[in-house]
Amino acid sequence: MSLKNSLSSPVGKKLITGITGLGLVVFVLLHMIGNLSMFSGDDAYNEYAQLLASFGPLLYLMEAGLVVFFLFHIVNGIQIWVGSKKARRMGYDTYRSAGKPSQQTTSSRSMIVTGLVLGVFLVIHLASFKFGPGGPGNADPSYVTSVAGEEMRDLAKLVHHKFASPIYAFGYTFVMLLLVLHLRHGVWSAFQSLGAMRPSLTPIVYGLGALLGLAIGLGFIALPLAIYFNVI
Ligand code: HEM
Repeated sequence: MSLKNSLSSPVGKKLITGITGLGLVVFVLLHMIGNLSMFSGDDAYNEYAQLLASFGPLLYLMEAGLVVFFLFHIVNGIQIWVGSKKARRMGYDTYRSAGKPSQQTTSSRSMIVTGLVLGVFLVIHLASFKFGPGGPGNADPSYVTSVAGEEMRDLAKLVHHKFASPIYAFGYTFVMLLLVLHLRHGVWSAFQSLGAMRPSLTPIVYGLGALLGLAIGLGFIALPLAIYFNVI
């Protein structure tokens, strides 16, 4: 089988979804840790965002890689779901509980739903922050600040402004809980697709995936709620 055929087979699609998924886990983990810098103050957060922006072409390269990862993850994820629907309609995979050794839980069945909500979230998220006031193509002098004599985008002001609204604060909280569910099953599933798991490792990898998902989700949730309830 050619590489192209292997990658478009059901197993190949699971492999691509798993590899891109693990790459995206690294991104969301780093993004969450970066966001926590706002607990050290608005200047620290703006300086952190400015540091990333100063990477210039390297940042564009990383962003291009991120777009490719997101696209492959979403397209292959949808194709896997469509494939499993078709198999079920043919009656040879009638739905029933997968029993003990499988990890077919609520989160595995809801992967397509949580995934699609996260996809819609991402579009709104980028429009609100990345391309929001003061961002690329959206110059706004009221979102410019000066830290230690250096002029930079006042991203902290935008984050404060957005999460003062209950729709953003609780909307983000809700979506981050869906992210926990998505990661809980996703990490386990990715390791299984990569064949990196012996059955004896299943409970450990599943437990670690759940813990990682929870840590990332709670880390993200801290910021909107802290701002909404005036803690920072
Ligand atoms: C409380 C949760 C979150 C907050 C407060 C937040 C905040 C932000 C902010 C302020 C930016 C703009 C950064 C800049 O322009 O320098 C950004 C960019 C971005 N966020 Fe989030 N984010 C959150 C959750 C997420 C999640 C869950 C994902 C992925 C599913 C995500 C994906 C992205 C992406 C892809 C970018 C663009 C990165 C780039 O182009 O450099 N964010 N986020």
